[in-house]
Amino acid sequence: MSIITIIQSLALSIGLGILLRYIVRYVLFLYAFFIRSPINIKKYGSWVVVTGATDGIGEAYCHEFAKKGLNIVLISRSLDRLKTKASEIENKFKVQTKVISFDFNTTDDSKYQGLFKQLTGIDIGILVNNVGISYDHPMYLEELQPATIESLINLNVRAATVLSKFLLTSMVEKKRGVIINLSSVSGITPIPLLTVYSGTKAYIEKFSLALNLEYASKGIFVQCVTPGIVCSKMSKIRRPSLFVPNPTNFARSAVSTIGFDRLTTGYWSHEIQAFFLRSLPSFIVDKLMLDMHLGQRKRALNKKKSQ
Ligand SMILES: NC(=O)c1ccc[n+]([C@@H]2O[C@H](COP(=O)([O-])OP(=O)(O)OC[C@H]3O[C@@H](n4cnc5c(N)ncnc54)[C@H](OP(=O)(O)O)[C@@H]3O)[C@@H](O)[C@H]2O)c1
Ligand SMILES: *[C@@H]1O[C@H](CO)[C@@H](O)[C@H](O)[C@H]1NC(C)=O
Ligand SMILES: *[C@@H]1O[C@H](CO)[C@@H](O)[C@H](O)[C@H]1NC(C)=O
Repeated sequence: MSIITIIQSLALSIGLGILLRYIVRYVLFLYAFFIRSPINIKKYGSWVVVTGATDGIGEAYCHEFAKKGLNIVLISRSLDRLKTKASEIENKFKVQTKVISFDFNTTDDSKYQGLFKQLTGIDIGILVNNVGISYDHPMYLEELQPATIESLINLNVRAATVLSKFLLTSMVEKKRGVIINLSSVSGITPIPLLTVYSGTKAYIEKFSLALNLEYASKGIFVQCVTPGIVCSKMSKIRRPSLFVPNPTNFARSAVSTIGFDRLTTGYWSHEIQAFFLRSLPSFIVDKLMLDMHLGQRKRALNKKKSQ
């Protein structure tokens, strides 16, 4: 064999290898979102705890779990709203609920003792660390108020960490449990003008994946969900579209990935977006993100001026 033919066949095999890799990924993607049947999530325990349960993605998760016959503990600040949302769930799905009013915006871990007390003695199979906030609008770090930085870290980082640690103990004893952490695509790729939000979501992603390595052998399934944009108060988008699902469709899809995918966007069209964010050269993605958020910032400031 001449050197040319060796190089040619080498190049051909590398090309075929890369192609095969993409084909396998594509088939796995189709299987995960359109073919695979979900596991029986009741096997982890009869109760689910959801933080930030009264609106958006958290509320939709509650409904999806209740539809599958699980009892729900709802946690957020407003007791009135908690009661309304809980009785909606009880009437519609005939399951039990429990509400806990708690403000996660605190650096004082001792405040959590009251919350822990109300969670003891319940057979909790699944924890959804969903509570989280973002900026009012994209901003430079210098413009960000110290109070906003503090709340971002309290809600997006501290709440999930403290609560997971508490519930892990009983899950490890029972050798079963699921912890779901809501990150975001902005944990996958750096988002300019939302630096602190982006950073807190990257923390969630790394912590979830690392914790998985610690606890997978102890029967705990830790999942990190990194959605793109979902209609909600936080995203300020009301009308669903191909790439912006409403929370109900998002949660139905995300719940069906429990027990299988440890890192997922939770929704098929977000999976396609994440694929491109990960594979395009970073100078393209970075420019796209910067332009997009500078635009959002400008529109938000103009709107404020005209009010
Ligand atoms: N929407 C998106 O496009 C999107 C994309 C990627 C990731 N995510 C992530 O998904 C999660 C949920 O987002 P979302 O859009 O559904 O949010 P949302 O609609 O703003 O809902 C927030 C929920 O959290 C509660 N909450 C807010 N502050 C709280 C506090 N200090 N203590 C306790 N509870 C509090 C709210 O109820 P009260 O006000 O009554 O407390 C409400 O139930 C977040 O972690 C977010 O980062 C969202
Ligand atoms: C969170 O708490 C800090 C300190 O008490 C406060 O300044 C900030 O406004 C609070 N943030 C939210 C979102 O309530
Ligand atoms: C998310 O996942 C693990 C699983 O329990 C948890 O311990 C970790 O602290 C959670 N939160 C964050 C902030 O990643």
